[in-house]
Amino acid sequence: MTDYAGRLRLGVNIDHVATVRNARGSAYPDPIRAAKIAEAAGADGITAHLREDRRHISDEDIDGLMDALSLPLNFEMAATDEMQAIALRHKPHAVCIVPEKREERTTEGGLEVAKDENRLAHFIAPLRDAGCRVSIFIAADQAQIEAANRIGAQVIELHTGAYCDFHAEGRFDERDAELARLRDMAAFGHSLGLEVHAGHGLTYETVAPVAAFPEVMELNIGHFIIGEAIFMGLEPAIREMRRLMDDARA
Ligand code: PXP
Repeated sequence: MTDYAGRLRLGVNIDHVATVRNARGSAYPDPIRAAKIAEAAGADGITAHLREDRRHISDEDIDGLMDALSLPLNFEMAATDEMQAIALRHKPHAVCIVPEKREERTTEGGLEVAKDENRLAHFIAPLRDAGCRVSIFIAADQAQIEAANRIGAQVIELHTGAYCDFHAEGRFDERDAELARLRDMAAFGHSLGLEVHAGHGLTYETVAPVAAFPEVMELNIGHFIIGEAIFMGLEPAIREMRRLMDDARA
């Protein structure tokens, strides 16, 4: 069983440093420089999503991160042959399998594991064999968690996007219901022996209740932190998120 008494880890997602860079086709801002600042600011890991359309992180960014990072890299990827080959070449510390649609602005929902169990079980087996910790990004849904467990994932990452959207829209009853679902499903995943992570859309306003779930071992947060960095700098923006997480956990 996973030890969940330890410090809650923060994985900083640097995708949107690359988004700003790519808006002008320039060489800056550099996501690898951001990763090094994140490390100095107390991040426990770096998360990067190599999307099929390469709209932010590029193949060269992944090469550079693998060379330059002393923190573990959590490589987010769709369940495609191309991404599997890239992951097997680099063997990052962790891979997180996410659903991907070209037309979406961001990862809108969790992976449909239950409907695609056989294919996904075969897909993740070589990644596990290569030593990558395999995580599956899913909604807070019991059937999906059971399916993630059956296919041999070591980690589930619960999608906090709906909870954050309800908060932003002032739909507080629905927010609280989604938060309760996240809490129950974090406990359920843990009871199966899965390591539980959470992420998507988290902000200074929404992070504390999720950070307080004792079974959650890691939060992956990007867009809000990179946005705040415009106003206060990346290192203070990360330190403030870290402080809120630690306070919630204490
Ligand atoms: N976790 C996963 C699996 C994601 O796909 C993303 C977005 O790339 C995040 C966490 C971070 O979400 P955000 O950028 O909204 O903080």
